[in-house]
Amino acid sequence: MSTLPSAHPKERRIIFGNVSEPNYAPDLETYLKHGGYNEAKKAFTMKPDEIIAEVKAANLRGRGGAAFPTGVKWGFIRRDDGKPHYLCVNGDESEPGTFKDRIILHQDPHQLLEGIIITCFTLNIHLAYIYIRCEFTHAKAILEKAIEEAKARGFLGKNIFGQGFDLDVYVHEGGGAYICGEETSLLESIEGKRPYPRIKPPYFPAVLGLYMAPTIVNNVETICHVKHILRLGSAEYAKMGTAGDGGTRIMCVSGDVMRPGTYELPVGAVTMGELIFDICGGLKPGRSLKAIIPGGSSSKVLRADEVFKIKKPGPDGAMVEQETKLLDIVLDAASVAAAGSMIGSAAVIVMDDSRNMVWALNNLNQFYAHESCGQCTPCREGVLWMSKISTRMLAGGGHENDPKMLHTVADNIAGRTICAFGEAASWPTQSFTEKFAEEFAAAAGKN
Ligand SMILES: Cc1cc2nc3c(=O)[nH]c(=O)nc-3n(C[C@H](O)[C@H](O)[C@H](O)COP(=O)(O)O)c2cc1C
Repeated sequence: MSTLPSAHPKERRIIFGNVSEPNYAPDLETYLKHGGYNEAKKAFTMKPDEIIAEVKAANLRGRGGAAFPTGVKWGFIRRDDGKPHYLCVNGDESEPGTFKDRIILHQDPHQLLEGIIITCFTLNIHLAYIYIRCEFTHAKAILEKAIEEAKARGFLGKNIFGQGFDLDVYVHEGGGAYICGEETSLLESIEGKRPYPRIKPPYFPAVLGLYMAPTIVNNVETICHVKHILRLGSAEYAKMGTAGDGGTRIMCVSGDVMRPGTYELPVGAVTMGELIFDICGGLKPGRSLKAIIPGGSSSKVLRADEVFKIKKPGPDGAMVEQETKLLDIVLDAASVAAAGSMIGSAAVIVMDDSRNMVWALNNLNQFYAHESCGQCTPCREGVLWMSKISTRMLAGGGHENDPKMLHTVADNIAGRTICAFGEAASWPTQSFTEKFAEEFAAAAGKN
């Protein structure tokens, strides 16, 4: 049996290619039988600049949340600056709604190691860390076994592939906090410190990263894509996506759909409606769509009856602004951003008409109140206030001014913190209270 259900015709499983195979096991022999490490070997026949150019031409964007172009990020590292460089692979997977990296870590660890080898050769990195959330109890053992297997074959350690290049990979278990997924907190955590995010500038990881040395932080899925860019070639890879957003993206769908799960889709190949109705089997019987959170819990909620103005190619190919309904939004970073939200970690949370929006926001507020690291006062205090207010409203003790108060508190967090947790925590409150004003007004009551 394959570890995943059979693919929907619209899916194109590249990252999930192996784990879709019957009886695929996460060991080296199985990986080698599936073309494993071919691209790592190929990388050593290429010039590092050529590989960076391929990653740029492939239009790979980071799959960790910010959709930053990976080739551009890699270009910030100067290979020959005489400093040590590090790669930190972000496997914290802490954004609620996201459950894709876990599948790679547990079921295809060698795919990640191959991506790490290619990345490290390209950027002259001899030490890489895989930072995994500690709640993935089996992932550490699975990864460490895979690392030992690769070492025994000469794919890691000294003089890998006989190419005179040394590379060590360590697994670092996370501190069990959402903030540890923020890239500079992650670095602090690896250094053994309390994971307070660093101030940017000056602490951009590519300049002053781990141990103050140039460091690349990339998501697990992002690193896995690199192998496939070399395998397919950048043109073929880019062609799967849209202009500026290439390849496939693993969408994690949860909430009120018939078939929640992970779906690896060419970027921009389907609309929100096709994802929910064709691929995920639609809503539960008798239900109608109320709202969608498109990119993990931090992204702004979108209402089912909203109409967005999104630029799309017109009949003559020129981009023209068109009125677009929620279900017609194409699933790529630019289109979801144009609708006022973000593709984020591609975690689509679907809510039907049975959902109480005050309950939904309160659920999120409690999460953010629990997870604020407490370094910045607006966030430390504000998330707690938001959570207390929405809890009170839900319990029937709302005050008339509560919706406005919630929004004001959120407005005073976003843009006033060291890291993007401030925005992540504020956007749900801002968007829920704006878009479902009637429900919040009702819950506010006349107290
Ligand atoms: C509060 C917070 C939590 C984050 N959690 C994660 C996470 O769990 N995994 C992840 O890959 N990126 C996470 N990020 C984004 C990272 O900071 C960083 O942008 C990402 O790892 C870069 O990789 P990419 O370019 O491959 O996307 C988080 C960001 C913030 C602000």
